[in-house]
Amino acid sequence: MGKMAAALGSAATLAAEPGEDAFRKLFRFYRQSRPGTADLGGVIDFSAAPTARGARPGVPQVVRSQLSVCSVSESDALRAGLQPVSTWRAYGLEGYPGYQWHWVKQCLKFYPQKPNVCNLDKHMARDKDQDVWEQSKALLRCKEVTKRRPRSLLEKLRWVTLGYHYNWDSKKYSADHYTPFPSDLAFLSEQVAAACGFQGFQAEAGILNYYRLDSTLGIHVDRSELDHSKPLLSFSFGQSAIFLLGGLRRDEAPTAMFMHSGDIMVMSGSSRLLNHAVPRVLPSAQEDSLPLCLEAPLPADLPRDTVVQPCSVEDRQLCASYLKTARVNMTVRQVVATDQDFPVEAPGENERDIAQEGICHLEDKITHGKRVRLDPDS
Ligand code: OGA
Ligand code: MN
Repeated sequence: MGKMAAALGSAATLAAEPGEDAFRKLFRFYRQSRPGTADLGGVIDFSAAPTARGARPGVPQVVRSQLSVCSVSESDALRAGLQPVSTWRAYGLEGYPGYQWHWVKQCLKFYPQKPNVCNLDKHMARDKDQDVWEQSKALLRCKEVTKRRPRSLLEKLRWVTLGYHYNWDSKKYSADHYTPFPSDLAFLSEQVAAACGFQGFQAEAGILNYYRLDSTLGIHVDRSELDHSKPLLSFSFGQSAIFLLGGLRRDEAPTAMFMHSGDIMVMSGSSRLLNHAVPRVLPSAQEDSLPLCLEAPLPADLPRDTVVQPCSVEDRQLCASYLKTARVNMTVRQVVATDQDFPVEAPGENERDIAQEGICHLEDKITHGKRVRLDPDS
């Protein structure tokens, strides 16, 4: 309670600029928050014991929510690398995966490859010998992470799109720009969606976000999908972040919560179109350490039709070295309703009809000594 008062007290000292909204105010507060101080006292920690969370005025209570446990078989959970369904805990928003390395490796080694699209495509012609993973190996292995060492391609990777590739300029998906969605991620998503009561969810688009410690994701609503009755799934790995979940309108103050490695956030129903943002990725408590849950081993008795594969020691070491200063977030979306078609667009409509709000891609605080955050709000 005292902590919360302290946090809000500091937040309140931020000058309220004309037209400044409650969401932006807290976004700024958490962007400059100091780990290990009262700054983080108002951030909900789903991983903390319920008694430790307690009731705090102004902070929504975390409630256990029901999962459709019988919608997912134990064998399909195992195939997807998830713990037995009976052990999943949901707080309306969150669950828990088991073996995380498979997904981290996919995000770093395979998903950035063609035919998927990523932020590095614009700047360089990539061929087989120039793939992100291979090129980054030597640099990431080098122990002396001096300020001067060149950044590897992995460290320059900011986003990858899968399936229907999101167009950052038009803020739209299009029927013409589709490549097969990775089957392992589709399978994982189907299990999680089904457990939340969304049988028949189809993973059609993915946006993978690669955060460095100084990256932020601006305040936005994910409304580009054509069917908002389907949930949006978000999986987090690596360093923890502060996630702000606001209201339908920007003037509603958001709730701050930690997103730890292995957390799954499901935005569905009335929360599907809420404002949200990531103002802060937190450095690990001990320098260079990784969240303990990443150590969870792959079950010894993997089913023959498993979709998660064991990670080689070499691959895991490289993933670990990257994740020490990074957070990876995979978001999975169903774009169109089953049997729905993309609307036919009149020529030129794209240019005129750019939505006011849409997904923004994340930006570093400083690049080449210059502020380049695209989000005009931060
Ligand atoms: C997104 C998003 C949140 C996160 O990609 O649309 O909101 O936790 N990501 O990184
Ligand atoms: Mn989003």
